[in-house]
Amino acid sequence: MIDEAGPLSGRVFVLDDVDGSITREAIRQGADVRAWSDDVREQSKLPRAHVFDGPLTADWVPDTVLWRLPRAVSGVEDLAESLSTWLTPSARVIAGARVKHMTIAQNAALERSFAHVTASRGRQRSRVLHATGARPSLARWPMRRYLTELDLTVIARGTVFATNRLDDGTRLLLRTLSRITSQPRRQPSSLPTAGVAIDLGSGSGIIASWLGVRGYTVTAIDVSQHALQSTRLTANANQVQVGTRRSDGFGRTPDASADLIVSNPPYHRGAAKDSTPTIEMIRRAGAVLRPGGELWLVYNSHLPYLPELRRHVGVTTIEARDRNYIVTRSLKQPEALSEV
Ligand SMILES: C[S@@+](CC[C@H](N)C(=O)[O-])C[C@H]1O[C@@H](n2cnc3c(N)ncnc32)[C@H](O)[C@@H]1O
Repeated sequence: MIDEAGPLSGRVFVLDDVDGSITREAIRQGADVRAWSDDVREQSKLPRAHVFDGPLTADWVPDTVLWRLPRAVSGVEDLAESLSTWLTPSARVIAGARVKHMTIAQNAALERSFAHVTASRGRQRSRVLHATGARPSLARWPMRRYLTELDLTVIARGTVFATNRLDDGTRLLLRTLSRITSQPRRQPSSLPTAGVAIDLGSGSGIIASWLGVRGYTVTAIDVSQHALQSTRLTANANQVQVGTRRSDGFGRTPDASADLIVSNPPYHRGAAKDSTPTIEMIRRAGAVLRPGGELWLVYNSHLPYLPELRRHVGVTTIEARDRNYIVTRSLKQPEALSEV
């Protein structure tokens, strides 16, 4: 991307730099650099004085944008829309990614917001798209959808997981929870009555709003700014209160503070499969739950989470399964009665 951009000067905006290296190189070349990364883990690697925390106003408009292109076409479309309302037609966008993660549909997504889009030749398994001629189009993102089967409205940015659609794993999880919550409270298998609930990795906020509608006091956690923005939009659309926190895993969530944790946890980081964040989350969940609290997860059945759940949270049962996913319920032991 740096080579394709040529010498960098003027105002340079770096979008979704993974490790801060593009930002640092643009600074080294003497440009006036600001950088924004959606993921808090990537943001923490940016030189602090150069972090841009929005909004996109006319006070500082870049001449050049260096952008690590997202894999999802909806993400390209959403961010291109935002850029096109901000940039002048002469500004250049240099957007790069690994060739294996690129499709021709990304060019088309860029062309909705930029008049001229060309592709570089591939190099070191990567390729760059050049775009100029910003032309604001009718914004499609954030996009709203009413999910009849959940009676919930979802509003999401194009960059979030599954956008405003119901993921198959989340569907199985919420169907299973619906079955349990509709059981009379006296049944041993019913859920803790409304209390403090956490949706870890909230994405569009479907799970958080589902819990809010059922009377839980909900905190939604995600690493992504766009996910939390979508979670808030979804909560507003369903007239529920959901607190949001941007952090890697539980972050500063106090111990023994939650009655219920519900999650369709991450299994990717960027384009790469990675189960480490979920294993770390499971290890911490036992401490975050109050005695008697529960952790509900949905995940791909081949993932090695069951022993972790049993070891770090407590008795774990499989409540549902289909061809791809299992739904687990882990109970944090109630405090032992003190001996007389
Ligand atoms: C599989 S998606 C689930 C999204 C949403 N709950 C749903 O059911 O559609 C996982 C979410 O976890 C977030 N995430 C990834 N790594 C995380 C981490 N270390 N801490 C918190 N959230 C994370 C992602 O940004 C993504 O929104």
